[in-house]
Amino acid sequence: MRVLGLETSCDDTGVAVYDTARGLMAHKLYSQSRMHAEYGGVVPELASRDHIRKLLPLVREVLTDAATTPADLDGVAYTQGPGLAGALLVGAAIGRSLAYAWGLPAVGVHHMEGHLLAPMLEPEPPELPFLALLVSGGHTLLADVARIGNYRILGESVDDAVGEAFDKTAKLLGLGYPGGPAIATAAEHGTPGRFTFPRPMTDRPGLDFSFSGLKTAALTATQGRILDAHTIGDIALAFQEAAVDTLVIKCQRALEQTAHTRLVVAGGVGANQRLRARLQQLGEQRGVRVYYPRPAFCTDNGAMIAYAGAVRLGAQQNRDDLTFGARPRWSLTELESP
Ligand code: KG4
Ligand code: ZN
Repeated sequence: MRVLGLETSCDDTGVAVYDTARGLMAHKLYSQSRMHAEYGGVVPELASRDHIRKLLPLVREVLTDAATTPADLDGVAYTQGPGLAGALLVGAAIGRSLAYAWGLPAVGVHHMEGHLLAPMLEPEPPELPFLALLVSGGHTLLADVARIGNYRILGESVDDAVGEAFDKTAKLLGLGYPGGPAIATAAEHGTPGRFTFPRPMTDRPGLDFSFSGLKTAALTATQGRILDAHTIGDIALAFQEAAVDTLVIKCQRALEQTAHTRLVVAGGVGANQRLRARLQQLGEQRGVRVYYPRPAFCTDNGAMIAYAGAVRLGAQQNRDDLTFGARPRWSLTELESP
């Protein structure tokens, strides 16, 4: 089965062709981050308009790269939610229309299921069941994954997502958007120990997260100080250490509770090298194997949508009718196994 995947949930236009027999055949990403950087964050209306401009040209390029014509395809998958309503509607409308014009089935994919399954595109994919840590700009959650489509949420953020905290702290430090990579780079030159930020919600039982306090701690640290490169690096380092430490503590707790021997880390913050190193260490201590997508597939991409779409289209019942819609809010727990 060969599927065209479209991702337009936020500020990245991603397109890919995945074939269940041959694997990933082509993928391309157009990032809008330069456009949004001017405003310090994603402007939803601009995001929608840019998806309209970029999506079809990208589809043409990816089909050419994959040496694939519409006649070679077996379906079209698009991100149906969660995400920005207007941005999602662009992908849904174009995806559904292409499928209709080409006489193919279409399926709306859950963006977070896409992230969660992204490690399946790697040469050594994880077997099920596993514990999943999903860390993106919109979500922070730990899920017990028994089967594809069967996601039990063990804990999630009660306020900001960890990626959002990275982005807001970066903005505060004048580091620009997207904040995650900017904080990580600034932290490389930071002096350990000059600032220490809290590890929110680690002093009580449970697997929920809270990251809004961390951003406030960073704000307090900036007050009354000249924000020179040294201070920015020191705050960035203290922030990254606190955020990573919090995620590692909760992962350790979840592994103890579930006795899983596989941990899958996905979503944009999963590209963070410090987080990867610390989770690797935790895995080695506990005899747990840690799986990641390649860094380019940690952040939003079309490949994960094409893959998740192929899984769902492969099971005949997961096909959309001719209506389509966006689901800006959509919990992973509402999904069913394909
Ligand atoms: O998964 P993603 O591309 O989009 C969402 O679904 O939200 O995640 C984007 C988030 C942003 O908040 C970005 O700052 C963060 O992932 N991010 C990082 C890194 N690369 C991206 N955070 C920390 N370190 C990174 N290297
Ligand atoms: Zn995402």
